[in-house]
Amino acid sequence: MKTALGAVLISEEDIRRRVTEIGRQISNDFAGRTVTLVGILKGSFIFLADLIRAISPEIPVELDFMSVSSYGDATTTSGTIHIEKDLGISIEGKDVIIVEDIVDSGLTLLHVYNILLARGARSLRVATLLEKPGNSKYDRPLDYIGFKIPNKFVVGFGLDYAQHYRNLPNIRVLDEI
Ligand code: IMP
Ligand code: MG
Repeated sequence: MKTALGAVLISEEDIRRRVTEIGRQISNDFAGRTVTLVGILKGSFIFLADLIRAISPEIPVELDFMSVSSYGDATTTSGTIHIEKDLGISIEGKDVIIVEDIVDSGLTLLHVYNILLARGARSLRVATLLEKPGNSKYDRPLDYIGFKIPNKFVVGFGLDYAQHYRNLPNIRVLDEI
C-alpha cells in the first residue's frame, strides 16, 4: 500500500489543552491516593509523557510500561495479541490507569484489562488519547478520552504506521494513494 501524510486532524495546541484537562480530572479523581500509570508501548509514550506532568505533584504517581502487539504492520486488527514486554512492578492492590494511544476495535484494551484485573489491581481505569467508533470488543466505558475521531488511520504524537511518523507533533490522517 502506498501512503501519504494527509490533513491535520488534531493540532498540537488542541492536544495540549485536552491533556491538561485530563490531568486535572485525574488529579481530582485520585486526590489522596497513589495512582499507577501503565502505558501501552509504543504508541502511548508521548501522550503519557505529557499526561504524567499534567497530574498534580501532590499525587504520588507510579509508572510502568507494557508492550503488546496486535497489529504488525497492517492497518487492520489481526485479532490476536502477544505480550512482548511485561510490567516490572506488581500492581496488586493498586489503583491503575491503563494509558493507550488509541482504542480502535478495543481488542488490545480488553486483553490488557483482563490481564491486569487477574493480577489483582484494586481499581482499573483507562485513559486513551483517541477513540475510534469501531470500539466494540471492550464494552466498559472509557474513563478519560482525549478525542473521538472518525474511522480513519491516523499517525503522529506517538502513533505510527509501520514504525514511522511517531515524531509528528500533531495527529494527521494517513491517506492511501
Ligand atoms: P485495537 O486493539 O483495535 O483497539 O487497536 C489498538 C492498537 O492499534 C493501538 O494501540 C494502536 O497501536 C493501533 N492502532 C489502531 N488504530 C490506529 C491508527 O489509526 N493509527 C495508528 N495505530 C492504530
Ligand atoms: Mg501501536
